Amino acid sequence: MAQKLAGRTEEIQAQEIKRYEERTPKSKALFDRAEASMPFGVSSSFQAGDPYPLYLTEGHGSKVTDIDGNELIDYHNGFGTMVVGHAHPKVRAAIEEAAATGTHFAATTEAAVELAEEIKRRFGVEKVRFTNSGTEATMDAVRLGRAASGKDVLLKIEGSYHGHHDAVMYSVIPTMDSSGPNERPWSVPFSRGIPKETADSTMIVPFNDAPALESLLEEHGDRIGAMIMEPVMMNIGIVVPLPGYLERVRELCDKHSVVLIFDEVKTGVTISPGGATSLYGVQPDLVCLAKAVGGGTPLGAFAGKAAIMDEIESGVAALGTFNGNPLSMKAALATLTEVLTDDAYNLLAKLGTRLAHGCQKALEEYGIEGHATDLGCKGSITFRDKPLERYRDFQEVDDSLFEAFWYWMINRGVYQTPGKEEQWTISVQHSEDDIDRFVDVFADYCRTVTS
Ligand SMILES: Cc1ncc(COP(=O)(O)O)c(C=O)c1O
Repeated sequence: MAQKLAGRTEEIQAQEIKRYEERTPKSKALFDRAEASMPFGVSSSFQAGDPYPLYLTEGHGSKVTDIDGNELIDYHNGFGTMVVGHAHPKVRAAIEEAAATGTHFAATTEAAVELAEEIKRRFGVEKVRFTNSGTEATMDAVRLGRAASGKDVLLKIEGSYHGHHDAVMYSVIPTMDSSGPNERPWSVPFSRGIPKETADSTMIVPFNDAPALESLLEEHGDRIGAMIMEPVMMNIGIVVPLPGYLERVRELCDKHSVVLIFDEVKTGVTISPGGATSLYGVQPDLVCLAKAVGGGTPLGAFAGKAAIMDEIESGVAALGTFNGNPLSMKAALATLTEVLTDDAYNLLAKLGTRLAHGCQKALEEYGIEGHATDLGCKGSITFRDKPLERYRDFQEVDDSLFEAFWYWMINRGVYQTPGKEEQWTISVQHSEDDIDRFVDVFADYCRTVTS
């Protein structure tokens, strides 16, 4: 299929990039200006875009507006953060209250204690420490895991992203010629500037492969202190765990005294109230949160068993000037207790299924190899005939179908994350009309690309 459609997708992509440029001259002008003072003209390299990124001005409900005044239905939602939607009245009231009463003290407030209690309730954890981002959460959790186990090597999954600190910046999107055997992938640095010696401290295993994990732990379990993983991989589209896989990971980590860290930065409070931890019923030693938990303010957290978290009281550094600031605490508390209620999760599940089914139907109707994944407010379309099971399957995804699709959608008012590795996020402020618009535009794309 990929080869058959290649010429057509290239043609559509060229047309759509031209149309994008016609619709967004002010983004282009701001990009030219921004490039003079910011690398890539953006604040995070993940915000860069080709031929230039879109610059946004406002967000209300399910929509954002770009600097050219184009209104877009937002499925990007700040890389999966804005499950509350933009400017939600309850989150806004919490932020206004913090603005009026003090946004930062570097002293703990009652709101922080209440938020910790809510996270305990949702994730079945005993103690919580707040951070300001997902990167900080995984960085501190990894240090804590190593300290608690007394072993230095970190194990991570091939093709997973856990933030931008050195320990986890290995084998994020390795090329196949650099990544070694299937069952024993090599540690491939994702950035220049990472000291070479640290490569020995991060080992790599494939997702959904318990025998590969077992054999690595049999051989190196005396050195491996912590394992970090997304229980559902969400940086190569969506990859769900095979039945029994997470249970087996839990058993093997117990057997070899490895601290198991679930990175729920994307899955936490989105795919269920208690993330993948409660959805799949496998309890990690530590769980990392960020993105949606802050309701649009910068917030992360790591949390877990008291026996491990209490290592912080005996010499493990877990620090940060802005940790637990009242702005993020109040916004997050409103998010978790007033906005992301049981009714909200029911609504998100309904909308998510409507979107995934609609897209699957279009794929089938036009005979395009692909499948839509439905996980509550998260979902994705992967242009491959079978669902993915691990990173190396991702190499088979049809890039050209995705690239043309992104420009096609944005030119018709549907804003998605730019990259086949991402997924959509639906907010509680999306309507059925918003969902149907996505499906209609996507079906039209499928029709055009196959015509
Ligand atoms: C699974 C996962 N962990 C950690 C992070 C890092 O979070 P942040 O960008 O808030 O540092 C991300 C960011 O995309 C992520 O997807």
